[in-house]
Amino acid sequence: MSMSRIERAAVIGGGTMGAGIAQVLLEAGCEVVIVEADAEAAERARGRVADGLGRRKNVAPEEIEARAGRLRAITGLDGPLDVDLVVEAIPEIPDLKRSLLARAEKVIGPNALLASNTSSLPITDLGGALERPERFCGMHFFNPVPLSALVEVVTGKGTSPEAVADARAWVARLGLESIVVRDSPGFATSRLGVALGLEAIRMVEEEVASPADIDAAMELGYNHPMGPLKLTDLVGLDVRLAIAEHLAEELDDRRFEPPGLLRRMVEAGKLGRKTGEGFYRWQDGKPIPKEAR
Ligand code: NAI
Repeated sequence: MSMSRIERAAVIGGGTMGAGIAQVLLEAGCEVVIVEADAEAAERARGRVADGLGRRKNVAPEEIEARAGRLRAITGLDGPLDVDLVVEAIPEIPDLKRSLLARAEKVIGPNALLASNTSSLPITDLGGALERPERFCGMHFFNPVPLSALVEVVTGKGTSPEAVADARAWVARLGLESIVVRDSPGFATSRLGVALGLEAIRMVEEEVASPADIDAAMELGYNHPMGPLKLTDLVGLDVRLAIAEHLAEELDDRRFEPPGLLRRMVEAGKLGRKTGEGFYRWQDGKPIPKEAR
């Protein structure tokens, strides 16, 4: 990766994640092009990025304007793209991702790095249709991107060591930390996070301790910034259930079998913060332990 000129990056799909990724690239001084499905989506994506850029504290208005000025939003992958990095952040639909990645590969230079932000699809499969799988890897960002600290760099079977080094250099350039994870279900973060979350739910089910006490065990005993049940409420019980089912199937493993309590709570519409109740009751975005009612 040359540092002698302004780096250029493309983000395919400017939704929740794509807009955040575009924002941190702009804040790192890059020129960014967002590729969207149609003109309206492109306009919405541009608005999302502008909002994000404007929300940063202690940044001069001229600087925010300069950052926004390096952003373009286009539709479709028709012409050549002069970029060093492409991050794909379209919906989690394997065939759509595969075909857009193959299309992107044709319009970028041979040395550009191609990455997918997928949270659950195997990188090796997504790269299956590529001519240069060695230049392809996963770059798994976290939500909300502008407040997160980590990117999982996921290596598929074909990913070259140079591509991994480039991906890590990009992450460092964004001021974030990277970890390198071999392509495997749940990568490192979901697998560990869900394992802890499911065990905590089983402990509630077995009445080992209250949700607030289980969370305190990890917050105070292990210095976790947030206990596993509060985190499950924030992520959404339905989202956690879907990931657990996916991991149970992919890893063929009973450790990830969702506890009955999780299924019952999802069926009852207790999905966590977004519905106002999960393992906690939520008021004004804050958790209230249920036994304190
Ligand atoms: P989203 O639905 O907010 O955004 C997807 C965007 O892709 C939309 O703006 C849509 O218009 C656009 N799009 C759809 N078809 C397109 C096409 N043919 N060409 C160009 N753009 C197209 O989805 P979100 O949440 O941003 O997720 C995107 C990816 O990021 C998924 O793979 C997801 O698994 C992954 N991810 C999501 C996280 C999250 O918390 N939402 C966290 C980490 C990864």
